[in-house]
Amino acid sequence: MSGELSPIDKAKFVAAKRAAEMVEDGMRVGLGTGSTAAWLVRCLGEMVREDGLKITGVPTSARTAALAREVGIEVITLDEAKWLDLTIDGADEFDSDLNLIKGGGGALLHEKIVATASDQMVVIADKAKEVATLGAFPLPIEVIPFGWQTTQALVEETLISMDVMGRTSTLRMNGASPYVTDEGNHILDLHLTRIGNPRQLALVINQIPGVVENGLFIDICDTVVIGYGDGKVEVRDINEGTVETDRIDFVDDENLFTDLSE
Ligand code: 5RP
Repeated sequence: MSGELSPIDKAKFVAAKRAAEMVEDGMRVGLGTGSTAAWLVRCLGEMVREDGLKITGVPTSARTAALAREVGIEVITLDEAKWLDLTIDGADEFDSDLNLIKGGGGALLHEKIVATASDQMVVIADKAKEVATLGAFPLPIEVIPFGWQTTQALVEETLISMDVMGRTSTLRMNGASPYVTDEGNHILDLHLTRIGNPRQLALVINQIPGVVENGLFIDICDTVVIGYGDGKVEVRDINEGTVETDRIDFVDDENLFTDLSE
């Protein structure tokens, strides 16, 4: 069954599988959103069902919550957990400092809250997500629906004084309607091409009224697990300054490799 996966899906799977090995009995785990995070949830579900792993999960979106329950992970809210041992999530881009762009899946607000409330954040990604400079992937920002066009104009005006290459933005759509987040907000995707100073941009964008949060994760991620299509994984720990390589075997498993909706 795993032979039918594309190289990119294999890369996402092995990154997720390796990160799942970091989860220990009794942990409160933040569960990310997106196709890579969905692999993680499936791997953890299998460990819960077959190895008796005891964890509680705090999902970062309604769709991750549904998947986690489906695979047998006990789901609690962040307020019930209060603090988390570990959050594992995907990313749209990461740089050498493990600063991230997130929010391609529209869940950046809950993802940032959950990751910030964790002792450790581990990002799982295929190698293609690694960039020298953030910004080729459009930066998502969550804005409230009230006056969103005014907020958009203010954001674009603010970008004039920022170290970025592009300055246009688009309202994310879901078919003919604006995309709506789990908090009932909209997403503006900022087409910046290159972000010269991500830390400054993250601070400045969040000062604009109407902006709830931006998809730049600065100094939040501790470790990245990079997956490759041939089963190789690389684990980079920014705090320890270590890089380890490993190899994950693909094992056919009907539970893991079927019905993956994302
Ligand atoms: C969702 C996210 C995702 O983690 C990000 O978009 C990566 O997704 P995928 O694993 O499907 O490539 O930030 O808001």
